[in-house]
Amino acid sequence: MLKTTLLKATEASGKILQQYFNGSFEVTSKSTLNDLVTEVDKKSETAIIEVIKAEYPDHFILSEEVGEIKTASSYKWIIDPIDGTVNFAHHIPLCCVSIGVEKDGEMILGAVYNPFMNELFVAEKGKGATLNDNPIKVSAKTDFKQSCLVTGFAYKWTEMKNSPLAVFERVIKDQIPIRRLGSAAIDLCWVACGRFDGFYEHHLHAWDSAAGFLIVEEAGGKVTDFAGNKYSPYQKEILATNGHIHDALQDLVNGK
Ligand code: IPD
Ligand code: CA
Ligand code: CA
Ligand code: CA
Repeated sequence: MLKTTLLKATEASGKILQQYFNGSFEVTSKSTLNDLVTEVDKKSETAIIEVIKAEYPDHFILSEEVGEIKTASSYKWIIDPIDGTVNFAHHIPLCCVSIGVEKDGEMILGAVYNPFMNELFVAEKGKGATLNDNPIKVSAKTDFKQSCLVTGFAYKWTEMKNSPLAVFERVIKDQIPIRRLGSAAIDLCWVACGRFDGFYEHHLHAWDSAAGFLIVEEAGGKVTDFAGNKYSPYQKEILATNGHIHDALQDLVNGK
């Protein structure tokens, strides 16, 4: 079963993250000085792919560090072997493994596991979302001014309309609490279970959000791009909320 394999893969990864977390490991930079990868990202990725390939050797794989392992299958596994690598590299236990499964271009299954908090979030299309097997729901908050938000920043600074700093400034000037955890997958899961009311980020990759966006949707939340269009993990912008504050957060992000 797909779900059994998914959980086996997240568990294998979680064990590796825990095994190496307190020790020393090699850390290198990728596109920019602050865009880190550790040898543990790669060990986690290898273990995940081994589990998947043992059960489904013909499935397509898209994983952050190795890229695409292309096949003609209609199933695609989208893997972030450590989401929150900078946290991991600094021994900050806010990081996770995130794996989404797509069938014919639609996300049907997702899991995000933070082994340091022992929190496993899972969602299946049409079947709801859970945290450690207990059903979860987004928050019921309707008053945007009373909400708590979370965001993240891409490694590389690029000038754009509605720049991350301009949006961040508007949130702070509006006196709305906002956090930056450093893991987009955890940000999304924490919207899904009601800890946050909304999350936005300007530039994510498919592996950051593949599992998390399904978990938010299945927990009753809403996920779009900044213009309010249906979300696809292959685009950069993401706006994920409990649904009630979506329009208000969308306006604030767009400076309206
Ligand atoms: C990063 C994290 C971070 C987000 C970045 C991502 P990584 O992923 O999700 O929260 O702000 O945009 O690249 O590199 O730790 O897998
Ligand atoms: Ca990531
Ligand atoms: Ca990663
Ligand atoms: Ca990365």
